[in-house]
Amino acid sequence: MSDTHLEAGRTSGSGWSDADRVQALRAASTSWPSYDLAATQVDDLELVLDGLLDPHVIEVPTDVADGWEPGDRVALRDPEGTMVAALEVTAVAPGAAGAVRVDGHLEGVARPQRWTFRDLRPTPADLREQLAVHDTVLAVVTDRALHLDDVEHLRAEVGSNRAHLLLVQLERSELGADATAAVTRALGAVLPELRVPTTLALLPSSPRLHADDMEERLDAVARALGAHQRIRLGRLGADVDAAIRAGDTVATDATYPAVEAQLRAAHPPRHDRGLVVLFTGLSGSGKSTVANALRGRLLERGDHRVTLLDGDLVRKHLSKGLGFSRDDRATNVRRIGFVAAEIARHGGVAICAPIAPEAGVRDDVAAMVREAGAGFVLVHVATPLEVCEARDRKGLYAKARAGLVKGFTGIDDPYDEPTSPDVRLDTTSADVQSCAKQVLDHLVDEGWLTADR
Ligand code: ADX
Repeated sequence: MSDTHLEAGRTSGSGWSDADRVQALRAASTSWPSYDLAATQVDDLELVLDGLLDPHVIEVPTDVADGWEPGDRVALRDPEGTMVAALEVTAVAPGAAGAVRVDGHLEGVARPQRWTFRDLRPTPADLREQLAVHDTVLAVVTDRALHLDDVEHLRAEVGSNRAHLLLVQLERSELGADATAAVTRALGAVLPELRVPTTLALLPSSPRLHADDMEERLDAVARALGAHQRIRLGRLGADVDAAIRAGDTVATDATYPAVEAQLRAAHPPRHDRGLVVLFTGLSGSGKSTVANALRGRLLERGDHRVTLLDGDLVRKHLSKGLGFSRDDRATNVRRIGFVAAEIARHGGVAICAPIAPEAGVRDDVAAMVREAGAGFVLVHVATPLEVCEARDRKGLYAKARAGLVKGFTGIDDPYDEPTSPDVRLDTTSADVQSCAKQVLDHLVDEGWLTADR
């Protein structure tokens, strides 16, 4: 059943299916395995199906792809579970740690839904139609906001060429990673078939993209895309953009008040952003106590809303029913991280105090929090096991030693010592308030809190 005309090692796409085919694929898919793609994979899949991105293999976690064989069909879904495409597997090969690389033939089922700026997301076909009525097009690719200088220049260019302005907004990371690929990807499907004289220009945030070799490469991209000329616009508003993002002041006539307000709101200084403080350490190390003291100090300051997600407390509600297996602990800590990241996304401070014994899971939490645009601070409460055990406030160490509690962290269950925590505390001799102060001082030093309270 495998598709023999496919190039080895690549997933090919035949584009979006017609209504009948979609119905047939949906009906058949009830007996197929499913794979829920990450949001970025959905983006790439859409580009592949639109013919804007070279087909590439899909990385799938090994346990998900367990038993997948050439000829099998798989439903590829968006994070909400809607089938985006059907994949006919042609090969499964070992991939990065814990993943396999799956090749196959793709058939588009439903274009992924976009919920923001829907009017500004035309499909390639829509765009071609819109642009075909113009005499000339000025296609400007950017990964930053436009400021006064930019707009004045573009207005002049558009005016003198009587052109239609096509402004393509990319993510900063897209243009940063591989500019020529990003530009090709953004304009590739539209320009060659447009047959309208097109001028290509770039307004990048990074000065690197103005280097001579990069300019040459972009000239080549413009030629390859069939653009009839490329203009070099220079830095223009790039420095204004960078200054606002960095929280510096700019001249009053450098940009538009509304643009500045939006940028500043999107890039607040650290002390106006959300924050997650994750305490990790053995049972009885003093995590909860220091976390509570820190919470008290933050409440006294009064400049942030604070939520404490304490280990034992979380297990009564959010993680009720979970035990202490490796999987259950990971789920518990990830749940705490998820809630903390949401709190921090909205500007709050979340203090978390689970044991969080696994380094990889702590890293996942850090990534989730940073993804939400917030700060992440890891505090290792490094009170030695002997001290925790001697305290034994809950009598659990005695039970663990007696074999009445199995898999107790530090006794017969592992704890990965953090190798580079932001703060390391030892509550053996230091009192609670001075430990809390150590954390507070770190937060001030790093700019997460202002010094004036
Ligand atoms: S974690 O490993 O999932 O991060 P969490 O902080 O939620 O742990 O819960 C730890 C608390 O559960 C301990 O302080 C202790 O009171 C209790 N507990 C019960 N059984 C165990 C166990 N096997 N290992 C560690 N803690 C346990």
